[in-house]
Amino acid sequence: MTIETTGNYDLPLDVQKILVDARAQVDVNRLHEAYAWARTHNPVGYARPEGFEPFWVLTKHADISAISRDNERFHNGDKSVTCRPKASVEHIVATTGCPHIVRGLPHIDGEEHKSLRSLTQAWFMPNSIQKLDARFRKFASAAVEKLALANGQSVDFAADVALHYPLHVIMDILGIPPEDEPRMLTLTQEMFSPEDPELRRQKKPAPSSQADMGKALMAVVADFEQYFKSVIADRHQNPRNDVATLLSNAVLNGKPLTDAQLLAYFLIIATAGHDTTSSSASVAMWALTQHPELLSRLQADPSLIAQFVDETIRIASPVRHFMRTAMEDTEIRGRTIRKGDWMMLCYPSANRDEEVFEKPYDFNIERKPNRHLAFGIGGHVCLGQHLAKMEIRILFEELIPRLKSVELSGPMDMTASFFIAGPKHLPVRCVMQ
Ligand code: HEM
Repeated sequence: MTIETTGNYDLPLDVQKILVDARAQVDVNRLHEAYAWARTHNPVGYARPEGFEPFWVLTKHADISAISRDNERFHNGDKSVTCRPKASVEHIVATTGCPHIVRGLPHIDGEEHKSLRSLTQAWFMPNSIQKLDARFRKFASAAVEKLALANGQSVDFAADVALHYPLHVIMDILGIPPEDEPRMLTLTQEMFSPEDPELRRQKKPAPSSQADMGKALMAVVADFEQYFKSVIADRHQNPRNDVATLLSNAVLNGKPLTDAQLLAYFLIIATAGHDTTSSSASVAMWALTQHPELLSRLQADPSLIAQFVDETIRIASPVRHFMRTAMEDTEIRGRTIRKGDWMMLCYPSANRDEEVFEKPYDFNIERKPNRHLAFGIGGHVCLGQHLAKMEIRILFEELIPRLKSVELSGPMDMTASFFIAGPKHLPVRCVMQ
């Protein structure tokens, strides 16, 4: 990459561009080159890409960690929590009255956030989700069976296996029947990867402007709303032992949740929980193809699978960023961040920070503790982090004893997105025993 600096605090234009260019981010090596440049030369850099409100770019583990833990001085809700073009944000504000499509956990702060989060926090803790082990194992062994049926033939692990297994899990905990999974999958992909021509709103032409992209997103939310309204009505009548029932009947300050709060909660859980996890599962499979010695190590000592999963999630870092807004003037590494400034937290960069990880580009399951920030940290740390790790661990606990060998049978292809990204296609040939 040619790095041309523009002076001041600005990041080089090539680096600025790649941060908001979904297509350019398909080349992960180029993206990591840009992060590495920023970490080394300008770790609190400024970006003003065309069409976007300017923002600070944070690339060091220590800074991202400190900002994420300081939920008083750095808010989620005041501006968009994902880096969206101005026109798209304007459309959202005009439609919803705030910079968010819905106001769910990632979009709110303070006591309101704490009390809403506390409704489901305990449900997602390891000792609680442990009871789901046997159910998840059934989904995982069905996924492994797909590979066994294709024994020795090429299979697209990302599209045919990794995409569906986390979807079964998340739909199961929300109590959504299997026949509705394809609809949920399409909705999530349209929501998180609107720039990817393969994944955006099907059979409709590409949005021609950022404002149209905003409109397309609002249409996706309207679809979700319609769907979840019927789920909520059903759980009022027929309570079950699932998260949908927990939320539909939840009481906050003596009152049930409003329709808007419920929709936002459902939407965040339904969407946050599968593309992220399926990307990580695909990277785990990719790692097995790149490091053939790993398979025999994990077969000899399956207790290492949990560390293998953690390292996979560090390397995958499927969430490329979340944004924060400064609530007061503050100084970071000698730079003055003004009240109201928008800040991009680059998790994949934190997870390659040489000051925290020895040989950060190496895939090394020995890292213990593995202090990666792929799930964020602080008050907004991923609600589903234990669920995600458990489901990927179970998938590989089911797969690894049956796998004799695995190799790539074609090139890996990444999603074009600068928010949530990972392998979209991963052709592999598995020989099963
Ligand atoms: C938030 C990553 C899986 C639900 C987040 C955040 C990240 C993240 C980076 C923002 C943290 C912050 O702002 O500090 C991931 C990754 C996953 C994953 C890498 C898989 C490997 C899941 C799953 C669920 C989930 C399975 C299902 C429940 C959420 C929710 C939030 C969140 C509800 C918002 C939390 C809040 O703002 O209080 N996740 N996530 N995620 N995630 Fe995940």
